[in-house]
Amino acid sequence: MKNTAAILLAGGKGTRMKSSLPKVLHPICGMPMLAYPLRLLKTLKIDPVVCIVGHGADMIRETFADEKGLIFALQEPQLGTGHAVMIAAGPLKGFKGDILILSGDVPLVRKETVKGLKKLHQKSKAAISLVSALLEDPSGYGRIKRNESGAVVGIVEDKDATTEERLIREVNCGIYLVDSEFLKANINKLTNDNAQEEYYLPDLIGMAVEEGLTVKALTIPTAGEARGINNRAELASVASTVRAEINRSLMLSGVSIIDSAATYIDATVKIGRDTVISPNVHLIGETTIGTGVTIEENVRIKNTYIGAGSTVKCNSVIEDSKVGKNVTVGPFARLRPGNVLKEGARIGNFVEVKNTNIGPGVKAGHLSYLGDADIKSGVNIGAGTITCNYDGKNKFRTVIKEGAFIGSATQLIAPVTVGKGAYIGSGSTITEDVPDGALALSRTEQKNLTGKKNPLKKGK
Ligand code: UD1
Ligand code: CA
Repeated sequence: MKNTAAILLAGGKGTRMKSSLPKVLHPICGMPMLAYPLRLLKTLKIDPVVCIVGHGADMIRETFADEKGLIFALQEPQLGTGHAVMIAAGPLKGFKGDILILSGDVPLVRKETVKGLKKLHQKSKAAISLVSALLEDPSGYGRIKRNESGAVVGIVEDKDATTEERLIREVNCGIYLVDSEFLKANINKLTNDNAQEEYYLPDLIGMAVEEGLTVKALTIPTAGEARGINNRAELASVASTVRAEINRSLMLSGVSIIDSAATYIDATVKIGRDTVISPNVHLIGETTIGTGVTIEENVRIKNTYIGAGSTVKCNSVIEDSKVGKNVTVGPFARLRPGNVLKEGARIGNFVEVKNTNIGPGVKAGHLSYLGDADIKSGVNIGAGTITCNYDGKNKFRTVIKEGAFIGSATQLIAPVTVGKGAYIGSGSTITEDVPDGALALSRTEQKNLTGKKNPLKKGK
C-alpha cells in the first residue's frame, strides 16, 4: 500500500485478561495475538510500522525482535489510546501520507477492509476515516454518533455514554486511517476529561468534524472481523474462529479433516494433500506434515516434520523430531525431542524414543526406551529393550549397527556398541561392545530344582 505508514497499539495493560502475560502475547492458534495485525501489515506491504509498547514492553520486544522494519516506541505510563498515538508521532515525524492505526487486540481484520478504507479515504479526501460495524451487542465499544443527515460527528466511549447513546449499535472498530498532517496538528490537543481520565484517540473524530474537515466511516457487513479481545472468553471465541478458518483452508487445499471442530492446528503448520486427520489431533508450532499421511485420534505433534505416506496411530505424542517417509509411529508411542526416523521405520506401542537416530526399516514394536542411541538400518529391537543411557550424572550413547537383532528384555548399558548383524539373547544385560556377527548372552544358566531339592516344597 503506497504512501502509508502504520501505528500498532499494544501498550495497554489488558486488565480484563487478569494475566501476568501482556495481552497481545496471548497465543491464538500458536501465534501471539500481535502477530496477526503484523501479518496483515506485511501482506499489505505497509511500511514503516511503529508499535507502541508499554505494559510488558520488554517481553513484546523480545518476542518480535526478528520482525524486520518494526519500530518500537515506549509509552510509559499508559494514558490511553490517544496518548499512545502522541508517542508514535515521534518516530513518524518525517513521514507524510496516510497513517493506518490498528489495535494489537483486534486480530481478525481482513486486508480487503483496509483496502476499502484506503479507497474511501482517498476518494473523499478525508482527514480521518474509520471502520465501523453494526453489532447485536455493542457493549464495551465506542459508539458512532451521526447527525440527522447521517454524517459521522463523533464517537462516545461506552463508559462515557448516556443510556440513550448506549442503544447505538454502530461501533468503532478501532481501525483508522489519518492524514499525517492532520494527525500532527491535532494529536496533542486531546484531553483526558472523561470517565476513564484517559486520552481517547476517537476524540480526533469530533475534532476533525469541528474543524469542518471530512470524516468517513466504512461500515463493514460482517462484524466478526472487528471483534476485539479484552478478556479470555473473547480470546477463546476469536481463537475458535481462527481455527475454523485454518482448517477450512487446509481442507480446500486437499487435506481431509474428519471433524473440524475437534481438530487443533496452529497457524504455523503446513500439511500436504491427501493427508487424513482424525478427531482430537493437535498439530503445534513449526510442524510440517507431508502428503498422504494418516494421523489417527488423540495425537499431539509439535515442531516436527512427518514425511509422505507415514502413519501416526492413536494416542501418540511427537515433539521436535524428523520422521521420514512411510514410517509408522504408535499407537501409544512417545517421541521426545531430537529424533530422526528414517524411511520405513516402525515405532510401536509404549515405545519412548529420545535424541535417537532410527535407521531405515528399524523395528521397535513394543515397550522400549531408546534414548541417546544410533540405531542403523534394519535393526530389530525386541520388546522391553532399554538403553541405560544415564548414570545419574552423565548421558552416554548406544550404537546398534546394521541388521543387529536385540532380543526382548535386553538392557544396553551405555556407552556400548552392538556390531553389524550381531544377536543379543533375550534378557541380557550388555555392558561391553559386541563384535560384528557375534551372539551375546549375559544371563545366568537356569536351574530347575525338583522334588526334595526344591526348598519351597520343604516340610510338605
Ligand atoms: C477502543 C476504543 C473504542 C473501540 C474499541 C474497538 C478508545 C478510547 N476506545 O476501546 O472506541 O470501540 O477500541 O476495539 O480508543 N493501548 C495502548 N496504550 C494505552 C491504552 C491502550 O497502546 O494507553 C492499546 C491497547 O493495548 C489495545 C488498544 O490500544 O491494543 C485498544 O485499547 P483498549 O483499552 O483495549 O481499548 P477499548 O476499551 O477496547
Ligand atoms: Ca480493546
